[in-house]
Amino acid sequence: MTPFPLINPRLATIWHGGDYNPEQWPPSTWDDDVRLMQASHFRVATVGVFSWVSLQPAEDRFAFDWLDQVLDKLAAADRFACIATPTMAQPAWMSRAYPDVMRADADGVRRHHGRRQFYCPNSPNYRRLADGIAGRLAERYARHPALLVWHVSNEYGGTCFCDTCAVAFRDWLRARYAGLDELNQRWWTPFWSHTYTDWAEIEPPYANGESLTAGLTIDYKRFQSDSMLACFKAERDAIRQHSPDVPVTTNMMGTYPHLDYRAWAREVDVISWDCYPWPSADPGDIAFLHDLNRGLKDGRPFMLMEQTPSSQNWQPVNALKRPGVLRLWSYLAVAHGADTVMYFQWRRGRGGSEKFHGAVVEHSGRSDTRVFREVTALGAELERLGARPLGATTPARVAVMFDWDNWWAIDNAVGPIQQKEYVATVRKHYRAVHRRNVAVDVVFSDSDLSRYDLVIAPMLHMVKSGVAERVRAQVERGGTFVTTVFSGVVDETDLAFAGYPGPLRPLLGLWIEEIDALYAGQTNRIVMRDSSGTFGCSRLCEIVRPEGADVLATFGDDFYAGRPALTRNRVGIGQAYYIASDPDDAFLDAFYTGVLDRHGMRAPLDAPPGVEVAERIGANDDRLLFVLNHTSSAAQIALPAQQGFVDLLTGTEWTDTLELGAVDVAILVQR
Ligand code: GLA
Ligand code: ZN
Repeated sequence: MTPFPLINPRLATIWHGGDYNPEQWPPSTWDDDVRLMQASHFRVATVGVFSWVSLQPAEDRFAFDWLDQVLDKLAAADRFACIATPTMAQPAWMSRAYPDVMRADADGVRRHHGRRQFYCPNSPNYRRLADGIAGRLAERYARHPALLVWHVSNEYGGTCFCDTCAVAFRDWLRARYAGLDELNQRWWTPFWSHTYTDWAEIEPPYANGESLTAGLTIDYKRFQSDSMLACFKAERDAIRQHSPDVPVTTNMMGTYPHLDYRAWAREVDVISWDCYPWPSADPGDIAFLHDLNRGLKDGRPFMLMEQTPSSQNWQPVNALKRPGVLRLWSYLAVAHGADTVMYFQWRRGRGGSEKFHGAVVEHSGRSDTRVFREVTALGAELERLGARPLGATTPARVAVMFDWDNWWAIDNAVGPIQQKEYVATVRKHYRAVHRRNVAVDVVFSDSDLSRYDLVIAPMLHMVKSGVAERVRAQVERGGTFVTTVFSGVVDETDLAFAGYPGPLRPLLGLWIEEIDALYAGQTNRIVMRDSSGTFGCSRLCEIVRPEGADVLATFGDDFYAGRPALTRNRVGIGQAYYIASDPDDAFLDAFYTGVLDRHGMRAPLDAPPGVEVAERIGANDDRLLFVLNHTSSAAQIALPAQQGFVDLLTGTEWTDTLELGAVDVAILVQR
């Protein structure tokens, strides 16, 4: 793969910066901010995210001078700007003048003005005013020397249940279905006498209304995701009229449950996302989210738009990032495809609900603090690193599939178990490969699978049209496919197939007769037929009827003891595995060790547990090996014989063994 182009070649190092809210502070602090930004190598300030009322104090009045001044100061100090449109939180005058801009909650009752993300995405007044301010900002700053990238709104999300949305939803449905008859059939509405006899009868899935028709609920999620995407596209287009050459993004939130980011990815120029793991998070789970963001645009590097330099404030307990962890997790992002390292936030506000959220500059305003020093050291290091990682690709031959429609279908299914744990299951399979330091791409149900040797689709419950065919082609030419319990159950409108696993049946060489659900704490066993081991499994166990597949393991307990728990079907020169339960990590370790070995997929370096190795490949096969010590003790990593490496971060040369301190990082290239 050739490297991707830079996000904006005007700044050809990893962008270091973050959210800056000068409108919350008297102008007398701005020079101090810029001076401290210079001191900390903070190059890119994200401005304007919440400044709608400061930019437009009344519908017919605009105030850009303050932003002019701020942007000029940034440019004069050789800083850059990520200019945001302020449309996540509308001013009070707007909510008052146009009540339809207010969102309605799940019971259909309109909210009062307040907090943020409380606009209706289908409100004509909201859309008109949001597009208006976006266009004016672009018109004014398109040629500003500080401008690097446009940031539309902020963390789109939530759901609106207002009457405007109800009307727009009916139009959306009319475009999707041939007619009411088709809709009734797809949603299985004769159940409980829910058949619609007029489009006007269709309501959003109110919490106190029709909340149990899964077809309706899933379509409403799709519709709201599309509605918010329409908001984004309209602002983006308003910006492009004046600023056609500057990339446009909006910051996403990883596995956020309400938006189909794969559909959004087509519309943004560069993916950006906000990374807020719990301080105790498994690094594999953070890596998964970065890989997901890289996967959204098929491998293209992304922006780490926000992370906290120290602590969050909205978790039950907001522990500080320990010394070194900010640096470690920043390189974790870069190792998985981030071309920027940015924070929320530059300066901690004195009031508002985020006054205890970490910031580069805390309330004391001082620069002789641990956090400021760590940010400064990281900024300097990123600057020294230069352009080398930018645009570099990830050489993954393993794909793990994630899909929002599938998630919605799984979560909306009533039965066979309440906690279906789709995301946790995907992460569990991802981690089993990741902890062997083998690169993984996160793919989606519409992704091109042809370049992967191994495709893992945990709980592929909803099989949309074309997916089974693409998986089959990948297997036939020698690939391996793995799927698990509760797969192949419904089509894209959530109607059950006539027998599971639906269109995957010929590929897997089996059918599913029954699904058993296990109580919390209850387990079964997976007994390998080749005597290689016995493993635990839980939550769901299926009674599998092979029709061509080889049985590699059977259940150890209960009335289905001896029935298949793991099968393999040979198709073409490849193989398709079915895991008929939710196995424990030990099973996944053994299983994926075997599969990866068979495909000759190995870690780039042999590292001890807790030390991650990830590769990015730049122009002319420039191989960067990121070695990340996630443990709290020093580690030694054997290097291939006869190869000398140099660490780009320190300039240290290493042969035979790399010595890495606790929470330390090296980026090795061959000498
Ligand atoms: C989000 C938002 C920011 C801020 C941070 C706090 O990512 O985009 O405005 O609220 O969370 O963690
Ligand atoms: Zn609405």
